Amino acid sequence: MLFDFDKLPARERYKLAVSCVVPRPIAWVVSQDAAGIVNAAPYSFFNVFSEDPLVLAIGCGPGKPEGKDTLRNIKALGQFVVCMVPESAAEQMNATAVDFDSSVDELAEAGLTALPSTKVKPPRIGESPVAMECETFQLIEIGPHTLVLGKVLAMHIHDDCVMDAEKNYVDTVKLGLVGRMHGRGWYARTTDRFDMPRMTVDEWAAKKAKAAE
Ligand SMILES: Cc1cc2nc3c(=O)[nH]c(=O)nc-3n(C[C@H](O)[C@H](O)[C@H](O)COP(=O)(O)O)c2cc1C
Repeated sequence: MLFDFDKLPARERYKLAVSCVVPRPIAWVVSQDAAGIVNAAPYSFFNVFSEDPLVLAIGCGPGKPEGKDTLRNIKALGQFVVCMVPESAAEQMNATAVDFDSSVDELAEAGLTALPSTKVKPPRIGESPVAMECETFQLIEIGPHTLVLGKVLAMHIHDDCVMDAEKNYVDTVKLGLVGRMHGRGWYARTTDRFDMPRMTVDEWAAKKAKAAE
């Protein structure tokens, strides 16, 4: 079936996209306003796109009339922290998506631990096994959305999830991260894996020859 985006309103395009582009990693974005009030909210229009510098992107929608607190804080301070979401903190992540007034500290509200960052003002979430301290790289307006590009300045990983600090080997499965699926509340675990190593041209030729035997 063909869905022609010239004939579909934005809401319907959104439904198709979030049903099919799955699972999406979740950026649990911690930001801070001028008065120091900490804000946290999940964003699953999110991924990393480069490593020199390491730049991540977050798609921030319009939300309430005055805009989302996350974007307002990022525009004002130019700093934020992206924490990855483990299954053990999934319900707390969901609590931080409640449309609280901007005066509410969502970390306190959800019973989460704010730990100090090293290079930016907003704290990181202690319950998250991976936290990336970011400064704004670029803001790109896409219709009523803003694509926030963040340059990652530092990354915290829980000690028990680092297998070899010298080689920067991480126990990815132990992170226990979740991804967002479709609808308003479906998520996926990252524990159901399969292994498929990359191939050289020679390995591909050998595989083809073997299949033809
Ligand atoms: C798992 C999850 C993923 C979300 N992803 C996005 C997203 O990518 N973009 C967006 O604008 N809102 C997203 N939301 C909604 C925001 O988290 C929600 O509007 C939140 O209240 C924004 O908070 P803020 O005003 O403190 O920034 C998501 C919500 C959930 C639960």
